[in-house]
Parts: sequence; structure tokens; C-alpha cells
Amino acid sequence: MFPTHRPRRLRQTPQLRRMVSENTLSTADLIYPLFAVPGEGVAQEVKSMPGVYQLSVDKIVAEAKEVYGLGIPAIILFGIPDVKDNEATGAWHDCGIVQKAATAVKAAIPDLIVIADTCLCEYTSHGHCGYLQTGDLTGRVLNDPTLELLQKTAVSQAQAGVDIIAPSGMMDGFVQAIRQGLDGAGFTEIPILSYAAKYASAYYGPFRDAAESTPQFGDRRTYQMDPANSREALKEIELDIAEGADMLMVKPALAYMDVIWQVKQASNLPVAAYNVSGEYSMVKAAALNGWIDERKVVLETLISFKRAGADLILTYHAKDAARWLQE
Ligand code: PBG
Ligand code: ZN
Repeated sequence: MFPTHRPRRLRQTPQLRRMVSENTLSTADLIYPLFAVPGEGVAQEVKSMPGVYQLSVDKIVAEAKEVYGLGIPAIILFGIPDVKDNEATGAWHDCGIVQKAATAVKAAIPDLIVIADTCLCEYTSHGHCGYLQTGDLTGRVLNDPTLELLQKTAVSQAQAGVDIIAPSGMMDGFVQAIRQGLDGAGFTEIPILSYAAKYASAYYGPFRDAAESTPQFGDRRTYQMDPANSREALKEIELDIAEGADMLMVKPALAYMDVIWQVKQASNLPVAAYNVSGEYSMVKAAALNGWIDERKVVLETLISFKRAGADLILTYHAKDAARWLQE
């Protein structure tokens, strides 16, 4: 009565397991998010994200050097401006915080890829991702006026030396608008990484502490997607591809593995998964309590994103993961 099939034969030793492994996690897959704030010598830990800091530009440059030294190919920049207003001036101003950080990082480490999150929520007084009629207290974001501001933002980020534009506001037609804006300003070679399938998620909670971008009223459900939907994600990516996106992102990642898989099957573009702030904070909290093995949980999670179809992973664990992968 011997079993005919014995899958355990291939699991006997680390050497065998490695040889038949279907997926690999590489430091080359990782993108590390950074939060730029005004000032000098500032490194303010985000309460809900242990190990993540708001950094002034000088500290961002130091951090970027460390990231580059670890073999991580790219950072994505978010900015917290001095002042917020209804036009999101800080997002598209020449002297905006992300523009300054990008210029400084590219001057210090030309080979590190600098991605800019292209959105308005950190820069608007109300915290929404787009333009509101002055005095609007309902949070009804006006789509097409927002596109003009996003165009300006992307062009000024490109002028500051940003290598990749990553629009995250889920406005209709934002990829097309940004592509036209970039091309019109001569930046035909700057790729767009579209947050194509971005859900209205409670997992962004800690990020909004980090980026100081919580909406003052209303919520983001009129522009970000309903967590109940996945066919709609395919519609979103189809539109973004048609509008000229070079890479697609699914966000959040952990609760949306099925969406990552479907996006991968439905397109031939590189797919990025955003392992978001709430996913990070849950792991950190459990690890700091000694309830889980942080290293094992993080590496298991990251390889699972690869298995689900992600080519790239944006993660706050990137530096730790890079170190662990070196050992
Ligand atoms: C802003 C933006 C958000 C994130 C990335 N860009 C938050 C939001 O939509 O409120 C979330 C990142 C994270 O939670 O780690 N458009
Ligand atoms: Zn936004």
C-alpha cells in the first residue's frame, strides 16, 4: 500500500527545495517609500509606523545613500509641505518639498531611481486627492480641474529630476493627462507607474499619520475603488494601459492578492504591489510584542506577492528585507 506520489521527495533538503523553488525574491524587486518634510536635521518617527520617519531633505539624502548601498534600486517620495491650500500649490511648485528632495537625491546618487507619488492630498487644505470648489464641505472632488493640477505636478517633478511619475489619486483620465503634460514639456522618456487599481482602504490609516493627509471631511470612496470589486480593477487597468501607463500598481497588496493575480494575467506590463502602511504596522506591532517572527513573516509575505504575480513591491520593510536577503 505505498503511495504512488510522494511530493515530499522534493522537499527533503534545502538544496532540493531551492532547486525546485518557483519564485524568487530579490532586492532588485523592492521600492522604498520616504517622507520628506521641511527643515534641517529632522527625523521624526511616525507613531503608528515604528522604524519609519519623516525626514528633512538632508536626512533623505543620507537615507537614500543607505538604501542604494543595500542594493535597493528605487525610492518613492511623498512630501509634507509647509503650507496647504485649495490649489495644492506645494505639489506643483518649483520649490516644493518633493522637488527639493528629488533634486538633492539625484545630485548625490544619480543611479538611484527616484519615483514621485503624484497626488494632491498631502498639499490640499482639506486633504482630498483633488480639487474642490472653494467652500465645498462635502468632499466632491472635481475630476477635470484636478487633471490640470496633476499635469503641472508631474511636469514640475520631472523638471526636478524625478525618474518615474506615479499618479495615485484615482482620477478618471489621469494617465492620459499626465502623459500629455510630460510629452508637451519634452519629457517623453519619463515612465508612468499608475496606481491603477487602488482601493478605498482602512489599511492606509498609518500612512495618513506619516503624510498628514487625512481628509478633513468625507472620505475617498468617490474616487478610490470599492473593496468588493475585482472586475472593476480590470476596467481600470484597461483604461490606464490605453492611456499610456508603462507600469501598473495594485494597492493595498495583502488583502488584494487575487487582484494582483488577475492584473498580471490581463496585461503584459510590469505589475507593482504596494504593501501598504497598515500591513506594515500590523506586522511591526505583533513583532514588537514578540508574537511573531518578524523576519520570517516579512519574507513569507514578500515572496507571496511575487507568487501572486507582482514584479515589483513597494514596502516599508525594504531595508530590512534587503539585509535579510544578503545574509
Ligand atoms: C495618496 C496615497 C496614499 C497612499 C499612497 N499614496 C493614501 C491615501 O490614499 O489616503 C497609501 C500608502 C500606504 O498606506 O502605505 N494618494
Ligand atoms: Zn492622494
